Order: sequence, then structure tokens, then C-alpha cells
Amino acid sequence: MNVVDRLIEEHVLRTAEYVELLKLADNQDVVAQLADEAVRLRKKNYGNKVFTRGLIEFTNYCKNNCYYCGIRRGNQHARRYRLTKDEILACCVNGYELGFRTFVLQGGEDPFYTDEKMVDIIGTIKKKYPDCALTLSIGEKSYESYKAYKEAGADRFLLRHETATEEHYRMLHPVEMSLDNRKKCLYELKELGYQVGAGFMVGSPGQTIDNLAEDLMFLQKLKPQMVGIGPFIPHHETQFAAEPAGSVDMTLYLLSIIRIMLPHVLLPATTALGTLDPKGRERGLSVGANVVMPNLSPVKNRKQYELYDNKICTGEEAAECRGCLGNRVASVGYELVNERGDYVESL
Ligand code: 5AD
Ligand code: FES
Repeated sequence: MNVVDRLIEEHVLRTAEYVELLKLADNQDVVAQLADEAVRLRKKNYGNKVFTRGLIEFTNYCKNNCYYCGIRRGNQHARRYRLTKDEILACCVNGYELGFRTFVLQGGEDPFYTDEKMVDIIGTIKKKYPDCALTLSIGEKSYESYKAYKEAGADRFLLRHETATEEHYRMLHPVEMSLDNRKKCLYELKELGYQVGAGFMVGSPGQTIDNLAEDLMFLQKLKPQMVGIGPFIPHHETQFAAEPAGSVDMTLYLLSIIRIMLPHVLLPATTALGTLDPKGRERGLSVGANVVMPNLSPVKNRKQYELYDNKICTGEEAAECRGCLGNRVASVGYELVNERGDYVESL
């Protein structure tokens, strides 16, 4: 049996088979066959629904120095900001009115937000919005910290692994960071009962087909409930400023593969995809994605949360984003729903 049929039948492949599959990314028949199967699975498991998450980018301070990222510690030109608890809560009020039932608190690794502060913010949001899910995306912490956030009411955690290959990880991160620790964090989050999201950039500097195959193997092993992938986009204040952006087509191909590997996965059509291609998010939904994550952050801070250049949706009001996305989702035959959108093993 060929690798395409094997993926469709078994949902699991070996590393060498993923390499073979990834080399077929420009074979339009294969691309279409995998997209069809991905869409069939997403419809079987989630119907026509697209879930939405209100993204609150609450701090762009970060103690890390990842080479690709515009808000890394070493970028002296980044204008830094932090939202107060009241500002965060105001984002939630706005978001709830607009129909969001998941809030994502995302930020750099900012020591200002101690565990005590985070637990207070998490507890307050969950008390005010018991019908909403709360997702954290705040980087690598200790098991005890993750446990405290979980006990305070956090439901989900996003921590992209970025790359599953040690040599490639070293090309993207300074020595003080470690892939082993990142993987350890993901397993601990799972053990604590979070719905967990891993993921990686497509076309990050130095990335090979073998690296991508390892990323897929890692996802296959971890079995995360969510997977975030988007094309790498250079940021002008990083050492990768002159590197080419990742490929939209490869990202779409990987979305289909990931949907087939993990048929119930919550899979966003990311902002990075929408940044490189004006129809990127719609195209993502058409090949297996089932989540969109618009910005709920205060308009005055949106441009400052600049992970990469030319990020979209930095000028719109949250209400405009909601309306815009509802129309975009409908344009490809899906429906944006006001639900928590939890991971379900079987519906
Ligand atoms: N291009 C695309 N994605 C990026 N991220 C960080 N920097 C970039 C970039 N230059 C992604 C990382 C991170 C997520 C929040 O944003 O994968 O985990
Ligand atoms: Fe933000 Fe379209 S989703 S303006």
C-alpha cells in the first residue's frame, strides 16, 4: 500500500513514510486526496462548526530570546506593554458579548505575572464566566506552577514545541533553552489534565523535510488535543530578517495530514496563515482546520504584540473581527459558533 493510503487507513506512519509523504507536497492529486479525507473527518467529528477563541495578548515582555520572535528579550526596539487585571477583564466582557466562550491568555514569559497574580486572574475569569473555557499560552513553567493554574480553573494550555529535532532547535534558540524541557512541559501539562496544544512553524530557518517528519512523529506520540501550525514569517528586528517566509501550500498540506493523524484534533487556521495569504484562513478551513483565533486585545496594544512582520487584524475592533471572521467562515461553507468547543474523543 502506498503512504497516502496507509495514512488514510491507519492514521499512523513511520518516520521514513512521513518523509516520503512530505515529498509529495507538490503532487496535486495527493494534496487533493488528503484534503478531501481531512474534510471528511472534520465533518464527521465536528460537522460544519468552526470554533472561535478570543485571544488576549496580555504582555509582550519576555525573558527568552528565541531568534525568530519579534518580542524576544534582545529586541531593544520593541515597545513593551502589560495589561492590568482590569484591562484583561474588560477584554473578556467585550468578548463574551460578542459570543466568545473560550478566552486565551497569551503572553511572553514575563516574570512580572507571578503564580500568585496568574492564579488570581484565572480564578476571577472562571468565576465570572463559568460557562467559558480558559486557555493559557504563557510558556515553560514548573510542574507546581502548571498545577496551581489548573487548580485555579485553567482548562487548556498552548505550548508549541517549535521543532522536535535537537539540531534544528539549536538553530532557533539560544543555549539556555532546551527542547527536552519543552517536551517535558507538554507531558506534564497532559498529566495534569489540561487539553494541550503543541505545534511548530512551517518553513522556519534551517527546517528540513526530515525535521518536519520528526514534528509529525512527535505529535503522533504526544497526541495533543490541539495543534497550532503556521508559516514562519520573518521579523525585521531579528537575525532572521532576511530569511524567506514559510510556504502557505506546505502549511495547508500539513494541516490535512495532521487532521488525518489526529481526527478529533482542534486545529486552528492561524493568523500567520492569514498574514501570508489574504484567503489563508479560509483555505485552512477548507483543508481540515476547524478553529479560528481572532484578537480580543485592546486595539492600542495590538501592533506591539509583533511576533512577525505585517501581522493582520491589528487595527480592527474585536466586534469587526468577529463579523469579518463570521463572513469569512461562511464563505467556505462553515458556521462560526458561540461554544466552548472542547476536544471530544467521540461525538
Ligand atoms: N513567524 C511565525 N510564527 C512565529 N511565532 C513566533 N515568531 C514567529 C514568526 N516570526 C510563533 C511561535 C510561537 C507562537 C506564539 O508564534 O511558534 O509559539
Ligand atoms: Fe480580524 Fe478579519 S478577523 S478583521
